[in-house]
Amino acid sequence: MSEDVRELVGAVRTYLQVHGRGRHFATGSWVDVSAVAGDGPVHAPETTPVAEAVPDPEFGREDFGSGTESVAPTRIEAGDLDQLREVWGQCTRCSLAGGRTNLVFGEGAAPADLMFIGEGPGEQEDLQGRPFVGRAGELLTKMIEAMGLSRDLVFIANIVKCRPPGNRDPEPGEVTACLPVLLAQIRLVRPRVIVSLGRISAQTLLSSGTPISRLRGRWHRFEGVDLMPTFHPAYLLRSPEKKKEAWQDLQLVMEKLREPHA
Ligand code: URA
Repeated sequence: MSEDVRELVGAVRTYLQVHGRGRHFATGSWVDVSAVAGDGPVHAPETTPVAEAVPDPEFGREDFGSGTESVAPTRIEAGDLDQLREVWGQCTRCSLAGGRTNLVFGEGAAPADLMFIGEGPGEQEDLQGRPFVGRAGELLTKMIEAMGLSRDLVFIANIVKCRPPGNRDPEPGEVTACLPVLLAQIRLVRPRVIVSLGRISAQTLLSSGTPISRLRGRWHRFEGVDLMPTFHPAYLLRSPEKKKEAWQDLQLVMEKLREPHA
């Protein structure tokens, strides 16, 4: 285990023991994350070129571009996140734990230039223990592929790791309980860009009550990382006319990822 990860795992353990130390960002102030996710700047990893972008027949056809516009890609490196998953895997910090089939930790590359953060697992995700594997997940996969990437070149996580009953919005206490692991994931994944998916994710990360329609399409910062909010794929399934705007957001992301590393 690397020194970094050992430190991180120790810090997460301490956090769990202290249980809830810090303040809650969903209620307008920030959790003290330094003990969990570290204080250092987030550095982009070196990258290697992505091979051929995979054109998507459906997602790329109209609103979402050709799927051949490759972006600055992502390096895959062996999983430092495994230790974090192990520590967090048995979490019972909130009542969502009681209703879960599986905790949905998140998956993908680490480090990765691009990280997607959704809201929380749905039924399929709960059953399979993987993020975005239902219908919304299929659309997210198409969105990623239209960007010239693939799911295994990005990291996909959620605000909460256990399914809220009936797919209701996660409650503030549940978000607070889950925050340390998300921050630790960001620290380990070291993304250059985060894309938040949907209202809950954007409003939570930005500690904002502004509607997603006004948050999307422009750059924000979270934990020292550029953040682009866009619509949730589940919403896009219900409102396909919004795909065009989502694609515009993703194009801004692709542009950002093409910029040379700082
Ligand atoms: N919706 C989310 O926000 N996350 C998932 O993992 C699946 C659906």
